[in-house]
Amino acid sequence: MKILLLGSGGREHALAWKIAQSPKVEKLFIAPGNAGTSAVGENVAIKATDFTALKTFALKEKVDMIVVGPEDPLVEGIYDNFTGDAATQHIAIIGPTAKGAQLEGSKEFAKGFMERHGIPTARYKSINAENLEEGLAFLETLEAPYVLKADGLCAGKGVLILPTLEEAKKELKEMLGGMFGQASATVVIEEFLSGIECSVFVLTDSKNYKVLPVAKDYKRIGEDDKGLNTGGMGSVTPVPFADEVFMEKVRTRIIEPTIRGLQEEDILYKGFIFLGLIRVKGEPMVIEYNVRMGDPETESVMLRVQSDFVELLEGVRDVNLDTKTLTMDPRTAACVMLVSGGYPEAYEKGKVMTGFEEAAATDSILFHAGTAMKDGQVATNGGRVIAVCSYGETKEEALAKSYKVAEMIQFDKKYFRRDIGFDL
Ligand code: AMP
Ligand code: GLY
Repeated sequence: MKILLLGSGGREHALAWKIAQSPKVEKLFIAPGNAGTSAVGENVAIKATDFTALKTFALKEKVDMIVVGPEDPLVEGIYDNFTGDAATQHIAIIGPTAKGAQLEGSKEFAKGFMERHGIPTARYKSINAENLEEGLAFLETLEAPYVLKADGLCAGKGVLILPTLEEAKKELKEMLGGMFGQASATVVIEEFLSGIECSVFVLTDSKNYKVLPVAKDYKRIGEDDKGLNTGGMGSVTPVPFADEVFMEKVRTRIIEPTIRGLQEEDILYKGFIFLGLIRVKGEPMVIEYNVRMGDPETESVMLRVQSDFVELLEGVRDVNLDTKTLTMDPRTAACVMLVSGGYPEAYEKGKVMTGFEEAAATDSILFHAGTAMKDGQVATNGGRVIAVCSYGETKEEALAKSYKVAEMIQFDKKYFRRDIGFDL
């Protein structure tokens, strides 16, 4: 089979690494990919949202399946675009329809969906310029801190958590006034939930589902979860508190109602559902849905998937995921992200990276996120640069291995968090 994977981050390198291990794969292309994906497949210089160029390429190369890494192509309707065109309808797309992608593309839609299907989530109100007064009144009924979410996609920056009512009111007006452009023309105000979070990844063929290894990510730039939000500084799987009792609640109260809800609303969904969960007094609640895998969770999750991943994806395509088996490595996998100094604010690119030979002699696995080839050498090309991932019999062992390799990889102004997994 010929597979085209879309995206260019650490998540995509991890997916490409796993997909390339399948004997079913005759050829793997990654568009646009990065310096790491080129080692497991062939990079193609096409943007993940350039549907016209992707179609031409997929037809020319006789691609059988497209696996969509990031959310943008899904929200922009790649599923509908390809399946609605007689020339490309034979190509399986792993990812939801545009309507399904609204679970991530519109916070208002996602909250309404959860309300309609009785899925536990924070109380909320959806506000726009017309009902601002209602929003201000709703804020008065809540306790600090206050959560404001831009309805649309904001590259992970659309959530504000504000310590005082005054700030919440002011920021609500600014968001509606265009702080995130059209994406914040509608704002969801939410009750703040207090608890520990985890990421649950569900693969569904629209009827059946499999739950991939549960992971926890670390979003803040600073140790002890302080400082600015980032794309993610590390991840660990499994998550001890997501035990059998907790996961049974997740299945019956969240996963199954979600899949039933999609069916009832006639939304075709064949892809990944990422549940951002929070445990509040022992009970799981949904913070958010995403319609893709998480980054950097995928980097550790893929280490623990033992089954042929492509066989699972075929199950999604053929709507017989129930006949496939998902076996998971019982070990812990942990990933530490090396980032460019200054990130998530301004940082420099083009720093030459060294230490790859030394790292290759260990059993850790490196997934490239923001790298590029520069005069025959690997150089930094983004804020999040490389994910160092390792197995261990315990979380401590996996992290110790990753930290050792994190020291081996060198580049000017390298930074990483030294406390990944501290709260588990
Ligand atoms: P998001 O950008 O949607 O992933 O949200 C960013 C982060 O904001 C989440 O991972 C949570 O840590 C936090 N968050 C979002 N909604 C809530 C909420 N209702 N209560 C507490 N924290 C929240
Ligand atoms: N790690 C969180 C995300 O991918 O959105």
